[in-house]
Amino acid sequence: MKKFISVDDAGDVKALVDEAINLKKTVYTPELGRGKTIGLVFLNPSLRTRLSTHRAALNLGMDVMVMNLNNDGWNIEFQDGAVMDGGSQEHIKDAVKVMSQYCDILGVRSFPGLKNREEDYNENIMSDFVKYSDVPVVSLESATLHPLQSLTDMITIKESGIKRPKIAVSWAPHPRVLPQAVTNSFLQWVKHTDAEVVLTHPKGYELKEEFTNGIPIINNQQEAFEGADFVYAKNWSSYAHYGEKPDVEGNWTIDDKLMSLTNNGKFMHCLPIRRNVVATDSVIDNSIVYKQAKNREIGAQIVLKKIIQSIDNSL
Ligand code: CP
Repeated sequence: MKKFISVDDAGDVKALVDEAINLKKTVYTPELGRGKTIGLVFLNPSLRTRLSTHRAALNLGMDVMVMNLNNDGWNIEFQDGAVMDGGSQEHIKDAVKVMSQYCDILGVRSFPGLKNREEDYNENIMSDFVKYSDVPVVSLESATLHPLQSLTDMITIKESGIKRPKIAVSWAPHPRVLPQAVTNSFLQWVKHTDAEVVLTHPKGYELKEEFTNGIPIINNQQEAFEGADFVYAKNWSSYAHYGEKPDVEGNWTIDDKLMSLTNNGKFMHCLPIRRNVVATDSVIDNSIVYKQAKNREIGAQIVLKKIIQSIDNSL
């Protein structure tokens, strides 16, 4: 594995999921990454991705450096050819190039601006990291994708042992304008598994077609939940009216009554979650969200392990 920024870097998704589950038997293998350093670069907040990737690297014997680029670095200029006579002090080209001199792998988190759809969906910041880094790059969530989360979700679903699970992917309310990355990515990854997926969201919250192609969309949340083995909840803002929150009819908060329509379905969410907005306390407290969060570690570890092997093979 040369980089990990989308499902296209995963190779055989089913095999990667199986390998990750198998890795749980021997989590601590410090000889693999000894003498190697990962740099975790954050332009946006994170709890799970930061800690689980850090721990995965420690399990592999790596050294870890964390850089909160927005708060602790110089003001970054992202524009190519910019005349930097304003507030920006360092170009992204120089920052990435230099950070990659100190690391063997660079992880980066960068959220979308949610103002300019083309800019966000071009993945300019992630592309800059890939372009300018001298070492492999791992996405810790980008403007439109969150592959480490999705790999973990596939691991969690596979571990349920259900052969062809029905998964209802449901939009849920949120007071803020959120990215589409987690749902985009989930839909990309789940297509490589044996799951039966339905997507449910209010009108106006259609996602980019390349992610929903082939997936039934039901605007009636109750109908979508019927017989589901898993409910994967997430809020996202409008793609068509980019970065807006069109008005929604009805109450889309996931509660026990909705969950009772499922096949004893398990509630999933990437976290963080707004309690009693996205889903009720009762739904969250009876869910598998902490199992998902725990699996973030093994998801990150299989990716780092494969990249380390690829670096070693190229020496
Ligand atoms: N699910 C997830 O990526 O959590 P963080 O934003 O806290 O890393």
